[in-house]
Amino acid sequence: MNILGIETSCDETGVAIYSDAGLLAHRLYSQTTLHADYGGVVPELASRDHNRVLLPLVRQALNEANLTLSQINGIAYTAGPGLIGALLVGAAFSKSLGLTQNIPTLAIHHMEGHLLAPMLEEVAPSFPFVALLVSGGHTLLVAVSGVGRYQILGETLDDAVGEAFDKTAKLLGLPYPGGAALEKLAQQGDPSRFHFPRPMLNAPGLDFSFSGLKTAVLHKVRSQADLTHQTKADIARAFEDAAIEVLCKKCIKALKNTGFSNLVIGGGVSANQTLRHQLQIAVAEQGATLFSPRPLFCTDNGAMIAYAGYLRFQAGQSDPTLAIDVYPRWSLESITIEHN
Ligand code: KG4
Ligand code: ZN
Repeated sequence: MNILGIETSCDETGVAIYSDAGLLAHRLYSQTTLHADYGGVVPELASRDHNRVLLPLVRQALNEANLTLSQINGIAYTAGPGLIGALLVGAAFSKSLGLTQNIPTLAIHHMEGHLLAPMLEEVAPSFPFVALLVSGGHTLLVAVSGVGRYQILGETLDDAVGEAFDKTAKLLGLPYPGGAALEKLAQQGDPSRFHFPRPMLNAPGLDFSFSGLKTAVLHKVRSQADLTHQTKADIARAFEDAAIEVLCKKCIKALKNTGFSNLVIGGGVSANQTLRHQLQIAVAEQGATLFSPRPLFCTDNGAMIAYAGYLRFQAGQSDPTLAIDVYPRWSLESITIEHN
């Protein structure tokens, strides 16, 4: 079975082919430079650019996999959550291709892609596991007992952690997209100079809140008479330390609550090396194991969508109608799957 995966939920166009032999090809086109002048993603520009590059990327992926379109058995595309226009481009493209080539299509939940991405690696987790999903739009702790068996243990009550990284980066004058740039700057920071609150660290439950941390950064930035490079680095470091401590502690709590011994991370923020390192230490102390995707598959990509599609097509799923439906907001718990 050869499954073509199409990802267009935000500002990355991802195309990949996953087969019985594993990942055969993956192509990624990032729109970063397109949006950089605006300091964030401009939805209309994102949609148009997905449209522009999708077909060439599909051709490249087919070449890389040494396959023709007639050898594709299913097309899996991100149907949500994400930017409505960007999602519509991917969905319309996939369904048109499917209709004209007589290939079944399947709507995939973007966060399921992130959640399953560590399974693309050589050392893959087995079920059950706890997943920490940290992206620009989501901060989720999920108990995963199988494909389509997702129970949300905790989520953010306000900003997503990636959003907090991006907003802090903007306050510090870093270019979009801010998360990776902030990580770099924080490496030069003094960890003892500033201290930011750890929101909801000791609250009962596993929910998160990051808007207070963002506000604390705003006040600190405004109170500085001279925002030197070193001061910016020190603020970046204090922000990162606060955010990471909260994420680590909640993950450990989730492992304890569920009794699971595998932790999986995914989403753009999981590319952060400091987070990966701290989690590694915290998880090892519990006698548990951390599984993470390679950094390229932490951020948005087509491989994770092709893989989620592969598993679901194998389970007998496909789109029931030709309607082009997308879901800018979509509950991860609702995408259950029939298990025999
Ligand atoms: O998963 P993703 O590529 O797109 C969404 O589904 O949102 O995640 C993007 C988010 C952005 O907020 C970006 O700043 C953040 O991931 N990010 C990082 C790093 N790389 C990307 N945050 C912290 N450290 C990084 N190295
Ligand atoms: Zn994502």
